[in-house]
Amino acid sequence: MKRIVVFSGAGMSAESGINTFRDSDGLWEKYNIEDVATPEAWKKNPELVLDFYNQRRIQVLKAEPNAAHIAIATLESKFDVVIVTQNIDDLHERSGSNNVVHLHGEILKARSEFDLSTLYDLKEPIRINDLAPDGGQMRPHVVWFGEPVPAYELGKSIIESADILIIVGTSLNVYPAAGLVFCTKPGAQKFLVDPDAITMGNMSDIALINETAGIAIPKLVEQLLGE
Ligand code: APR
Repeated sequence: MKRIVVFSGAGMSAESGINTFRDSDGLWEKYNIEDVATPEAWKKNPELVLDFYNQRRIQVLKAEPNAAHIAIATLESKFDVVIVTQNIDDLHERSGSNNVVHLHGEILKARSEFDLSTLYDLKEPIRINDLAPDGGQMRPHVVWFGEPVPAYELGKSIIESADILIIVGTSLNVYPAAGLVFCTKPGAQKFLVDPDAITMGNMSDIALINETAGIAIPKLVEQLLGE
């Protein structure tokens, strides 16, 4: 059974109503990364950080999987599918995909600020003085800029094993995650779905599809299932 790996970013969830980061209406147009998504921000103003992620959690809970999420889930009928996502929403899971690795964490999980490994499912806002059993302030289980990416090696080994890599909805701006798309084995078939993507020199072996995920992914999935 061929392995398909899907490497997704915020554009994958854009048509579900979840803001991307670097589009014109993106989150980083409204917030400074330094104020809401770094360990320094957490030390300086944890309330602002908690509020930023409380807002995003509400948006995720209101969102529904879109046609692209749903189409990708159907690939499991014929392929060994693993999703390596930069997204912190649960839309891949909610659309029926069973193997999802979150490189940058999950907004519907929380942890103590002192403990990376004990996770708590969470749909409620986190407030200051919501403490974990170890006495640490609870924080979203999200990887901030400057923090390690615990799932990086796992993500890399998954992408190295891909027969087909579908890159969708990412500006490939943030490393180390973005570098993963160049870790495929020789001969792997690669697609990039993004309405605004431009190919760079080192992407000559990637088939570029300049359309939204909601339009392009169902067509690509139909093509792959029909082969
Ligand atoms: N379908 C497909 N792609 C889309 C769509 C859509 N409907 N709408 C926007 N896009 C594309 C944009 O053209 C852009 O290239 O999705 C990409 C979104 O890029 P970013 O906003 O930079 O999101 P992402 O690449 O996931 O960011 C990576 O940066 O802020 C950190 O941790 C955060 O995981 C995130 C990381």
